[in-house]
Amino acid sequence: SRLTQSLEKAAVLRVKLEEAGQTLAHGGIVAFPTETVYGLGADARNTQAVENVFAAKGRPSDNPLIVHISDRSQLEALVTGVNETERALMDAFWPGPLTLVLPVKEGAVSPRVTAGLDTVAVRMPDHPVALALISAAGCPLAAPSANRSGRPSPTLAEHVLVDLAGRIDGVVDGGPAGVGVESTVVQAGPDGAVTVLRPGGVTEEQLAAVAASVQRDPALAQAGSLESPAPRSPGMKYTHYAPKGAMCVVQGRDADAVASRMAAELEAAARRGEVTGVLSYDEHIGRFRAGVAVSLGSAAAPEEAARRLYAGLRRFDDEGVTFIVAEACPEQGLGAAVMNRLLKAAGHHVIHTD
Ligand code: TXA
Ligand code: MG
Repeated sequence: SRLTQSLEKAAVLRVKLEEAGQTLAHGGIVAFPTETVYGLGADARNTQAVENVFAAKGRPSDNPLIVHISDRSQLEALVTGVNETERALMDAFWPGPLTLVLPVKEGAVSPRVTAGLDTVAVRMPDHPVALALISAAGCPLAAPSANRSGRPSPTLAEHVLVDLAGRIDGVVDGGPAGVGVESTVVQAGPDGAVTVLRPGGVTEEQLAAVAASVQRDPALAQAGSLESPAPRSPGMKYTHYAPKGAMCVVQGRDADAVASRMAAELEAAARRGEVTGVLSYDEHIGRFRAGVAVSLGSAAAPEEAARRLYAGLRRFDDEGVTFIVAEACPEQGLGAAVMNRLLKAAGHHVIHTD
């Protein structure tokens, strides 16, 4: 039957670590777990392998990839230098969900990895499977999130298979990814100034404990507007994580006003004949009538919201939801990354209640 066939295909695709390392060393593309989301890896020096990653994802080729290393000694071959701020950030957050944009050494990685920039984004993931796989492959791994372009990032091997079965050489199943949103991408000046190009698993509060100053790339605030300044992180200009349905985010100081407005939007949508979805928190979720209700956990626990976010967005697609109303979350800690992804998913369609 179709089901047995697809189950067999999935079983074949789930590969063991040693085999995956060999496949990567020979130019294959294999998905693997990290502490943020699943990545789709390729030898960063092998242009054909990297091109296969772009093709499998359907990703625009001017969007550069992050290079994953398992040992700091690998840096020397990749970059021309590391300043004091960068060194301090590595000391504090590696292995972990922090990506540093560094000056690339010419010829160190395929030009397809850097998309022609003179910098390369590097991180050391905090996941035993990812670290062992990079070692087994014996090369730095270029790895974007292992989803089809425009889909939510995968936090389970299952998500990878749904999006990419038939397009990749395998996936190493390591269970659920931990953090649930991608790494924080930063650029650091020698003076201690850190610019956040993409909010993620390492929070601004954590960065501020190490850096002299932390600022957000101005392009972050205006993403989606045509007047926005050229983003320093090319990925920021694409509408990522867009669910198939239309989505809006409701935001305001008064939680009751927010919930009332959300309920009203859902009611109006249901009257129009939409299949409705609501994304909220345990404190409010019971107040809404919707076809699909997703709670990200307590509004006071942004780590839990980050872990649940992408699987939640996938549920809306799976159940054919055409209109999604999402509740904004406080932008403290990991909440900043969650809000960033919600706004992108909604194409920056925000309803303010105050
Ligand atoms: O957590 C993560 O970072 C995951 C896991 C798999 O490690 N990877 C990930 O990769 O999210 P990807 O390709 O989906 O996102 C890479 C981001 C994009 O926003 C891209 O524009 C930015 O990093 N980036 C890559 N190279 C860059 C560079 N040289 N300068 C500025 N931004 C860069
Ligand atoms: Mg991605």
